[in-house]
Order: sequence, then C-alpha cells, then structure tokens
Amino acid sequence: MSNASVLIAGSSNVALAEEVGRKLGLSLFPVSIIRFPDGETRVQLKESVTGKAAFVFQSLAKEPNERLIETLLLVDALRRDGASHIILVCPYLAYSRQNVQETWGVSVAARLFADFLKKAGVDYLITMDLHAELVRSFFEFPVAHVSARELFIEALRQQKLCDDLVVVGPDLGAAKLASKFSQELPAGLALIEKRRDDARRVTILSLIGDVEGKTVLLADDVCSTAGTLTSAAKVCREKGAKRIFACVTHGLFVEEALELIDKSSIEKLFVTDSVSLEPKVRANTKICVVSCAKVFASALSSLLTRFEE
Ligand code: R5P
Repeated sequence: MSNASVLIAGSSNVALAEEVGRKLGLSLFPVSIIRFPDGETRVQLKESVTGKAAFVFQSLAKEPNERLIETLLLVDALRRDGASHIILVCPYLAYSRQNVQETWGVSVAARLFADFLKKAGVDYLITMDLHAELVRSFFEFPVAHVSARELFIEALRQQKLCDDLVVVGPDLGAAKLASKFSQELPAGLALIEKRRDDARRVTILSLIGDVEGKTVLLADDVCSTAGTLTSAAKVCREKGAKRIFACVTHGLFVEEALELIDKSSIEKLFVTDSVSLEPKVRANTKICVVSCAKVFASALSSLLTRFEE
C-alpha cells in the first residue's frame, strides 16, 4: 500500500484490522476514540488524510449501536478532512437481519443504516456473507460482497471432512448459502424449516431432504444464541445423521451459546474472526477459528490498485 491510502481501525476488531494491514504492509493510521462519561463518543484523526483513500475497518458487532455511531463519526471526520475516497470495510454488518417489514409496525433498520452511512460520506463498502443479498441493494454506492466459503471449504478439506457430506441450511433464509456450499464442495443439500418464537427460541418445523447415515454440514451466516444451529443439529441427529459439523461466518456467541454448542451433537463448529472472538470462544475445543484476514487483504488490495492508478 502506498502513502496514497490509509487504514483506520474502529474499536471492534483491531486484531483483524492489524492482520489485514500486515498482509498489505501497512500499520494502522493513528486515531483517538474516546467515550465521555455521559456515554457520547468522540473520534479524532491524529494526522491529515487530505487527498488520501481511507479504509475504515469496523465490524458492527457485540455493541452494534456503539460501533455504528463510532463508524459514522470516523467517516464524518475523514470526509471533513478531505479524504479522496472513504471505504468502509465491515466484515459483519449488524442489522442486516432487519431487512424487510415482515410484520406491522417494525422498522427496516438495514435500509435506514445504509442511508446513514451514505450521508456520513461512505463511498464504497466491503462486507462478507450478508444475511441477505437484498441488503446489498440498499446501498447507493458500490458494495464488494466477499464470502468465507472458500476458507471453510479449504479447512474442511484439510481436516478430511468432505466425504459423504450433506450441507444443511438450518433455516430457509440460509438456503442460498447452503446451496452455494453444496455446489462448491460438492455435496448434497437439505433444508430445515424453522419458526422463530422469540429472540431466543426457535421451533423446527420440518427437514426437507435426507441426512440418514450422512455427515451433515450446517451452514449459516450468523450464530448468535446458537438456538438455530443446535436445534437444527438435534433434528439432523433424530433423522439419522452420523456426524454433524457447522460452518458459520459470523460468531456472535451471546448468552448461553457456548454451553448450548457444548451440549449439542455438533462435533466441530468452524467460524471466522469477522467478529472479535473472546478467549473462551477460541479456547473451546469444539470451535475452530478460520481467519478471514486473507479474504479482506485481497479485496482491499484490488481496490488499492484502482486508487493508485
Ligand atoms: C437468521 O435467520 C440467521 O441466519 C441465523 O440463523 C440466526 O440469526 C442465528 O441466531 P441464533 O443463533 O440466535 O439462533
């Protein structure tokens, strides 16, 4: 990366930003991000970015509302200082699940936040495994949508877990992702129909396809409470699955998620570091972390070439 571009990390996943920076041969640009005692956030650039392309690296995870405000302030500061382009690198885009008015009286949060980012000054977004492709169309600027699938497939091959595999989408929303996995592996495909009862509870309605005597690979974009994955694993086991693995791009692992995973029949859960993972997640023997740094380094590197032409 030449000095025509800078890489700035928000506070959500500094380790991943640093790793991507290392792969591109650059260190993080100095910024200060502080919280006032009343809860307000203040950001300040420590050097000028005038005329430079600025890559803001921020996963909107864990405390998504805080991270979103921080991102908007960083982008605003960069725009006010005259950055030539502002590229938001957002491995996990929070609020993507709230993308339709599926019932009366709710907001379409993903659409609203796309507008906020545009208003603040974002020119380009790089993100990974969005909950739905639809979200991409909410942004009125280009979006590079990368995927962790190739990383997972490589890890599965290395661990010789690709034989006699059926990819299972743990809900109908995961059908597209599961179908892409099944084509690329290649492997069979099955789908689960689930009903979400509330934020923490799901009910499995049916399993479409055959998993009897097979190795199942559950594939989903997000694991939050792990209710979806572990309920899906339970039904697969009841239907005769021999072994059960899972690949999830974004590991939020909230509340009792790890305990549920431990108690489930999932043998191993592959997850990326798109979201900063707590030490207890990394230490969990069922969890295998696959870094997505190389996917982002490659996406950034092709944009850099464009800005430096
Ligand atoms: C929902 O449709 C997503 O693809 C995930 O299945 C869901 O967000 C996972 O949430 P949880 O782990 O809380 O069940």
